[in-house]
Amino acid sequence: MSKRAAFATRVGAIAAAVGSAVGLGNIWRFPYEAGVNGGGAFILVYIVCILIMGIPVILSEFIIGRSTHSNMKAALRTLSPGKKYYLFTYVCILGSFVVIGFYSVVCGWIIEYLYQAALGNLSEHSSAEYSEMFNGLISNPWRCVGWTMLFLVINFIVMSRGIEKGIERVASIMMPLLFVILIVFCVNSLLLPGASKGLDFLFSPDFSKLTWKGVLEALGQAFLSLSIGISCLVTYSSYFDDKTSLVKDAATVGILDTMVAILSGVMIFPAVFSFGVEPTAGPSLIFEVLPSIFQQMTGGYFWALLFFLLVFFASLTSTISLSEIPITFMIEEHKMSRPRAILWTALITFALAAVAALSFNVLDDIKLWGKNIFDMMDYAASNIFMLLGGLFTAVYVGWILDRKVIRDQLTNGGKLKGAMEPYLIFCLRYVAPVSIIFIFLYLTGII
Ligand code: PHE
Repeated sequence: MSKRAAFATRVGAIAAAVGSAVGLGNIWRFPYEAGVNGGGAFILVYIVCILIMGIPVILSEFIIGRSTHSNMKAALRTLSPGKKYYLFTYVCILGSFVVIGFYSVVCGWIIEYLYQAALGNLSEHSSAEYSEMFNGLISNPWRCVGWTMLFLVINFIVMSRGIEKGIERVASIMMPLLFVILIVFCVNSLLLPGASKGLDFLFSPDFSKLTWKGVLEALGQAFLSLSIGISCLVTYSSYFDDKTSLVKDAATVGILDTMVAILSGVMIFPAVFSFGVEPTAGPSLIFEVLPSIFQQMTGGYFWALLFFLLVFFASLTSTISLSEIPITFMIEEHKMSRPRAILWTALITFALAAVAALSFNVLDDIKLWGKNIFDMMDYAASNIFMLLGGLFTAVYVGWILDRKVIRDQLTNGGKLKGAMEPYLIFCLRYVAPVSIIFIFLYLTGII
């Protein structure tokens, strides 16, 4: 077998995994989901989901990936020879296309806002006008499709330069910067008149506002945000070296990702209440609120530009990891060359993303359960694909995988303490499957 690429440094490997996790899921989707689901109680459930399911599933994906140094399908075949578990990989591949399909449309919106920021258009309007501006964008098929395609072209150019050069460099510079700028924005938001209402909304849980559907969405959001359930972290950790402590890395990814999500909430909600925007606005929420924040800041032009630039890079490191799933699969399972695998992945992604981008305008008549195609993809990605994937991973590692492989990976062959093992196994065997299955059954009306 030819030598697989590897991350040059340990920091590079973690930065890439954090780069995959931190993206629009945290900055765009988390605030909108929290807003729609009533705030505080949703966030509390979200954090619990991260601790008892999210981090254990990250660790499981790391165990599968690093113990075999291969893609999900090959990994499952190596770990369970003669069994058919590897077939689940196809669900993961499908899931990764659904995620990237709607996700790249939002990345397209980010480029439009970057462009508007460069033109200086994000500093002189009222919040009502910003809401019109967003509606103008999504109802224009050319702009939506154009920006989405531009984003995807950039994504696939970066990918064609290979794992190390492309991903590592971008991720290790931009992520820390994003963190700092989020803090600057939070401080600004907190200084707005009426900011305390936003904090109340975020941090005083009102369980009467949370439904079981909200709990499902908190869990789906946690999985989407951590990039788990569609074998993304299996692929990434297959490039990890054998000295890395998987437990530490999984905790780092989980904690940093959650911090970015919470910071995004603290940045958005004080402003939501201060400017009188509806917290339940949904996918348009941050696009309606952010410009008003920039406007209040000295040097707003510069901040707006910097913010959208960093979010652009954060999304890029996520879409890179998403597209790496089918690409690695095609290369290793179908013996394609890398350029060819990239081409196929790009073509399928272009088609799906175009449909998603058109679902607010040309295709907006097509609705199922009141959702247009974009909303359906957004919903199905996290609440169906990632949850099913999370369930599969938890059950596979908790019940089926040889315990020796788990112990070996947790302790690096006996060199580290394996104190996490009982907690991990308990969460994987009982907590995650029971919760996921219960929520599914409850929502489908079976119980
Ligand atoms: N976790 C990413 C985000 O929050 C999205 C993602 C999902 C990336 C699945 C890779 C795999 O933006």
